[in-house]
Amino acid sequence: MKLCFYLATKNKNKFKEIREIIGEEIEILLPPDNIEFPEEKGKTLEENAFLKAEYLSRFIKNEYIVGEDSGLFVEKLNGLPGINSAIFSGERDDKKNIEKLLYMMKDLKTKESRKARFITVACLFGKGEKVFFKGEIEGYITFEPRGLNGFGYDPIFEIPEIGKTFAEMKTEEKNKISHRSIAFKKLKEYLIKKAKEG
Ligand code: IMP
Repeated sequence: MKLCFYLATKNKNKFKEIREIIGEEIEILLPPDNIEFPEEKGKTLEENAFLKAEYLSRFIKNEYIVGEDSGLFVEKLNGLPGINSAIFSGERDDKKNIEKLLYMMKDLKTKESRKARFITVACLFGKGEKVFFKGEIEGYITFEPRGLNGFGYDPIFEIPEIGKTFAEMKTEEKNKISHRSIAFKKLKEYLIKKAKEG
C-alpha cells in the first residue's frame, strides 16, 4: 500500500510546495473541506505544528497526520515577525505584512544588519508517532520586494549565494534549498525508512 499522510493545512501554497518536495513516493491528502482550524495559540513553531496535527487527528483516525508551522525571524528585530509571520500586520495579508516589516527595518541600512532566517517545523503525528522535523535557511531582507513567484515574504527574502529572492526563483529552485524542503525531506526519509523496517 502506498505511504500517505494528511497535511493539516488549508494553505494551498504550502500544500503545493510540500507535494512537489515530497514527490510521487508518498501521497499527501488534504483535510476534509468542512474542517476549519482554530487560531494558532502556541508559543513556538513546534507547539503550533503539533496543535494543527492534533486537531486534525480528532477527525481522522489511524492515519499519519502532519502539522506544519513556519515563520520568518529577523535577527535585529529579536526574531520578529516570528511565529506570528502570517498575521504580522494584523491581517492575513502578504502585501501588508511585507510593508510593515520593511518599514520596521527602514533604519537598518547595511546588508549585514538585515540578516534573517526562515524556519519550518513539521510534526508527524498519529499511528503512535509524535516526531518533529526542522528546516532552516539563512538570508537577507531586501530593501524592496523583487519577483513574482511564491507567497508570503518570498519577494523580500534573498539567498546570499544565489543573489535572488525566493520570489525570483522558479518553484523547483526554491524547493531545492528552502526551509520547508529541508524539514520535509527529513520527514520523507523517516517515513520511508519506517515503512521498510515495518
Ligand atoms: P503559518 O501558516 O502559521 O505557518 O504561517 C507562516 C507564514 O510565514 C506564512 O503565512 C508566510 O507569511 C510566512 N512564510 C512561511 N514560509 C514561507 C515561505 O516559504 N515563503 C514566504 N513566506 C513564508
